[in-house]
Amino acid sequence: MMNEKRIVVLRLGHRPERDKRITTHVCLVARAFGAEGVYISGIRDESIKQKMENIIKNWGGKFWIEFIDNPLNLVKNWKKSGGVVVHLTMYGIPISKIIDKIPKDKEILVIVGSEKVPKEYYYESDYNIAIGNQPHSEVSALAIFLDRITNGAWEYLKFPNAKLLIVPSEKGKKVIRISE
Ligand SMILES: C[S@@+](CC[C@H](N)C(=O)[O-])C[C@H]1O[C@@H](n2cnc3c(N)ncnc32)[C@H](O)[C@@H]1O
Repeated sequence: MMNEKRIVVLRLGHRPERDKRITTHVCLVARAFGAEGVYISGIRDESIKQKMENIIKNWGGKFWIEFIDNPLNLVKNWKKSGGVVVHLTMYGIPISKIIDKIPKDKEILVIVGSEKVPKEYYYESDYNIAIGNQPHSEVSALAIFLDRITNGAWEYLKFPNAKLLIVPSEKGKKVIRISE
């Protein structure tokens, strides 16, 4: 079963010249693995929004992207309104040791960084979680976190109003167009 409450991602410090593809991939992973939307801080980059709007138009579902100027305020307000804040960092506690402590009936804000994450986020977060204590990527960290927190339920997600649907096949690509 998916989380009863929503999961939202906060992508910190987007830099268009360096992070365009990575931030887009954070959004793609968030959508595919069951998050409701992504807040993006840093430089406003409309091309990411456009890319995701195209994905939603073809592949369905409700998903949103919002650019924000004060991500630390978002984190504080999230907690004030009763939500849980999770920060994914290689310096944190290994996921297997902490996953069962995260309340699944509360709304979850998942923070991923780009460059150095300011220390305030480590202190404001309820859980600093490592997906292994080796450096890798916000994309892989987010994917594994969402898989664990949903217990794999993302696999059965439906994306309403899709125009395209893949028919899984052993070889080749089978895609059906449901509407124009
Ligand atoms: C390329 S890393 C840069 C991290 C940066 N050096 C720092 O000190 O915060 C970008 C993001 O990927 C995520 N990340 C990378 N490796 C991770 C790991 N082992 N566990 C959890 N998150 C990780 C974190 O969210 C991190 O902020």
